Amino acid sequence: MAAESGANSLQVEYWNDVAGPKWVALDGLINDQIEGLGRTAIERAAPRPGEAVLDVGCGCGHSSVELAGHVGETGRVLGVDVSEPMLVQARSLARAAANLDFQVADAQTHGFEAAAFDLAFSRFGVMFFDDPQAAFANILRALRPGGRLVFVCWQEIAKNPWMAIPGAAAMQHLDPPAPPDPSAPGPFAFADRERVAGLLEAAGFSKVHHEALEARVTVGRGLGRAEILEFLVQMGPAGAAMREAVPEVQERIRASVAEAVTPWLTDEGMVAEALCWVVRAECPGN
Ligand SMILES: C[S@@+](CC[C@H](N)C(=O)[O-])C[C@H]1O[C@@H](n2cnc3c(N)ncnc32)[C@H](O)[C@@H]1O
Repeated sequence: MAAESGANSLQVEYWNDVAGPKWVALDGLINDQIEGLGRTAIERAAPRPGEAVLDVGCGCGHSSVELAGHVGETGRVLGVDVSEPMLVQARSLARAAANLDFQVADAQTHGFEAAAFDLAFSRFGVMFFDDPQAAFANILRALRPGGRLVFVCWQEIAKNPWMAIPGAAAMQHLDPPAPPDPSAPGPFAFADRERVAGLLEAAGFSKVHHEALEARVTVGRGLGRAEILEFLVQMGPAGAAMREAVPEVQERIRASVAEAVTPWLTDEGMVAEALCWVVRAECPGN
């Protein structure tokens, strides 16, 4: 898709041309890794039969399918995402479920029907807006008074060794990047709970609540060691380092990542701690 009104153009390009095709190719593995975290967030959102749910940044649609199961035939789920390849995957996963639709849309700028949803949900899909306050204000307009927003997002990368360890091992082979802006759009942009609470309140939400969610994630479940390593160097900061590196440096990155993650390799895959927030907020005016 082309970015609507120029918003989020870098992320739109990234999720269509770089990350989207990768997520589709690795869909089963990635979903396996984050499914439990998403399920806990869905439990907190408590979708009920008959409710209308907006799944923001739904990607390949796993959470949308699960939400559709909760709201049943009398409810409906709309999954929106900027990534066309991921939505193709989502549609094939959903197999034309009557209560589930997908739409290519930028959640920050799309003109959703006003007050049409009981719940706006997201599994790791809201940390990529270039103007998060505007995006949450837009999502709020789509909620009915008393409607709720629930999403799961990562805490800081240092508290997520499943990604920090391969990332640090890879980055040592590149020139040190300028210190990143921790709030720039990206997977860890919502680590700071005060900032996120402020953004949500400024957007008009009330009753903002953060719950820390700690879990062990299994990366590359069921794969052999070599395949796990190949998976690891495609994702997150390690993947970004690989994209920048010439082939000779890529080999060094592979070797360093292999050494760094060895203590976390088990027969199941790479098993490491992950730390998230489950964030809840309410549309005022019930
Ligand atoms: C980390 S992935 C998560 C995908 C999916 N929710 C899951 O858990 O598998 C982030 C998703 O947010 C989507 N996204 C990023 N910016 C967006 C925006 N402005 N509007 C809608 N979706 C967006 C991406 O295309 C991607 O599918």
